[in-house]
Amino acid sequence: MIKFNHVYKVFEKDIKALDDVSFSIEKGEFIFITGPSGAGKTTVFNLLYREETADMGTIFVEDTDISHLHNSKIPFYRRRIGFVFQDFKLLFDRSIFENIALPLVITGAPQEFIRKTVTEAINKIGLAGRENLNPWHLSGGEKQKTAIARATILNPPFIMADEPTGNLDEDSSWQIMNMFQELNKKGTTIMIASHNKEITAKMAKRVIRLEAGSVAAV
Ligand SMILES: Nc1ncnc2c1ncn2[C@@H]1O[C@H](COP(=O)(O)OP(=O)(O)OP(=O)(O)O)[C@@H](O)[C@H]1O
Ligand SMILES: [Mg+2]
Repeated sequence: MIKFNHVYKVFEKDIKALDDVSFSIEKGEFIFITGPSGAGKTTVFNLLYREETADMGTIFVEDTDISHLHNSKIPFYRRRIGFVFQDFKLLFDRSIFENIALPLVITGAPQEFIRKTVTEAINKIGLAGRENLNPWHLSGGEKQKTAIARATILNPPFIMADEPTGNLDEDSSWQIMNMFQELNKKGTTIMIASHNKEITAKMAKRVIRLEAGSVAAV
């Protein structure tokens, strides 16, 4: 489903964020991407989200070579991807409810469907009663849960989560992992970047390890 083929990404001042990276992920897989800070994990996600483009190499998502995706097709392409950003990217001029509802609003879902779906999602992540708050008023972990709810609200076939448990306590981390497991059982392909050795070990999934922009182990 996803194939990186000899991908290079160099930033200014000669920073080789990705240096000849190749790997593939099958449809329906649950995979971790690990490696120290600066190894290139977020860069992999940004390339997949077409936030950045590769300097060399090809990236296929299903049958699409995403490097050559026309700009006008990017929003539609992104609807298939639930992306939990490392820094959340919540909108601070909207409530928690509105943040989670946003992907549904953009796709033109009916009001009543939005109300029901978002309320269910809010209950599931344990934020009932806080839906009208602004993200400013949430703890780091609550913001993270909100970001996860927003990324999963459209039931995308592919979810990528960048350190989704970085701000969570142990119980909440496992709650979130269980949520991802459930989605994976229903067929969603899941890719998670994580520093958390205990979680990656206990989950016992395939791991892609990056070190200084290269694949150290697949
Ligand atoms: N837009 C950018 N401009 C310049 N350098 C960048 C840019 N984005 C990433 N880099 C550099 O590329 C390298 C890889 O960064 P990346 O964010 O992918 O690492 P990471 O594995 O996600 O790290 P962390 O675990 O800390 O999140 C780093 O050296 C980083 O400084
Ligand atoms: Mg990162």
